[in-house]
Amino acid sequence: MLKHTEDYILSTEVDRWLFHADILVDKAHVVMLKEQGIIKKDAAAAILNCLTSLEERSADFIEDELPGYEDVHTAIESVVIQEIGEDVGGRMHTGRSRNDEVATCIRIALRTELFELLRAVNGLRRALLEKAREHLDTIMPGYTHLQHAQATTFAHHLLAYTDALARDFSRLIIAYEHTNVSPLGAAAFASTGFPIDRDRTASLLGFDAVLEHSMDAVSTRDFIIEAIASFSNLMINISRLAEEFILWSTSEFDFITIDADYVTGSSIMPQKRNPDYAELVRARTGTVYGCLMSGLSICKALPYSYNRDLQEVTPHLLRAVRTTTASVTVMKGMVEGLEVKLEKMEKQAPVGFTAATELADTIVRETCISFRTAHKIVSALASSLRDEDWDWDRDWDSQRIDELTLKITGTGQKLSDTATGRELNLNEKSVKEALKIASNIQKRNVKGGPAKKEVKRMMQQREKNLATDEKTRLEKEEYVKKSFDLLEREVQRKKRIVKLIKMNR
Ligand code: ARG
Repeated sequence: MLKHTEDYILSTEVDRWLFHADILVDKAHVVMLKEQGIIKKDAAAAILNCLTSLEERSADFIEDELPGYEDVHTAIESVVIQEIGEDVGGRMHTGRSRNDEVATCIRIALRTELFELLRAVNGLRRALLEKAREHLDTIMPGYTHLQHAQATTFAHHLLAYTDALARDFSRLIIAYEHTNVSPLGAAAFASTGFPIDRDRTASLLGFDAVLEHSMDAVSTRDFIIEAIASFSNLMINISRLAEEFILWSTSEFDFITIDADYVTGSSIMPQKRNPDYAELVRARTGTVYGCLMSGLSICKALPYSYNRDLQEVTPHLLRAVRTTTASVTVMKGMVEGLEVKLEKMEKQAPVGFTAATELADTIVRETCISFRTAHKIVSALASSLRDEDWDWDRDWDSQRIDELTLKITGTGQKLSDTATGRELNLNEKSVKEALKIASNIQKRNVKGGPAKKEVKRMMQQREKNLATDEKTRLEKEEYVKKSFDLLEREVQRKKRIVKLIKMNR
């Protein structure tokens, strides 16, 4: 066969990722085979010794030897057989298939990646909470349609992101739980006639349970789709933050300075500070969607059970998870190093009449007319301000507020109820109050609103939620670590047997 024809079916490139998982799977399987009396103790010991030494030279093996095989499972089994002979090494694959083996390896490898990602997500949540704490009093314009809408605080804005990320965390935990079940022992799809113990291998490998149905176990990659779908959601959220950083760092906004570590210069324009990292987070969101689309398309309409098509999903998973974790990590650094231009933000907060909603609300409270009517009245006022080119760039100080108040309550343009023509006779003091941006924000103190007291309360609650989520993450990592320790103890015990046998000879 031509070399490239042979190359076509190889999975060794992505299998580099699965090497350590495969060694673990082999160890657990051999320990169980021995415990079940399916293979003899000296055979088990010889195989386990061989796997341990292979593990010790893993870097060289992955670089030099792995590429010569069809996949990592074949490579490891072949080396074991080369080293201890087929009569002993050939027993390792008893009662299993590459189909359950690869599915188990992917789940183990993904699990490790999910731990990294969960840690990164919580790191970003922490960074956002800390930034928010610094900016409880930083007033800024809030936007809808990217047009000035109403004033808010930078803390309130950042907290919105922590909430989205908290949901991403729980989606990832669900993806984790659907990942962390063991297909091992399903063999090709019909399980095996050997008296294997699937629960034992599952617990030695840190799985929460066995993925029971043997045909389902080797056929499904839904956990991968679910994981990449969760990554996609997460990427949406951080791409929005990245996009805001890009916008806010433009000369037009000039709200923030992105840390020097996250900008680059230009090869021709000496003054440039380009937000390349944020741009790449934005771009790689597309990359992750691409992985999701590939996974969905590859898995669609595959007849049960295993098909080689499934091999093609694995590289997309690896690319998606690594891209996501790296992007979250980059965003964390960017948030931590963010320099906020408080005065610039605050100066923009009243621009474009962001107090208009509060003024309409005040009219409702003062005169008892309906909100819709008050909306019409203030809308007419906003148009006339636009027509006369009211200068929002001047400082929004008490003098300026007085000027606008006079316009609203004074004789010149006295507001009247558009429906009845009746004069509104607004109280000057309350109009002034409505135009004050800072007190405007403090009035919005209902659950979830930007008032400082409410933002502080939310922040405390989010701190607690983050601590709970961190605990969940650490417990899961700890459970896996304990299982691996147990596996390693069993491996050592069973390896010692061979030494005793050798000494007795
Ligand atoms: N490299 C393969 C994969 O990733 C391993 C399973 C091969 N199984 C088979 N029946 N050809 O799916």
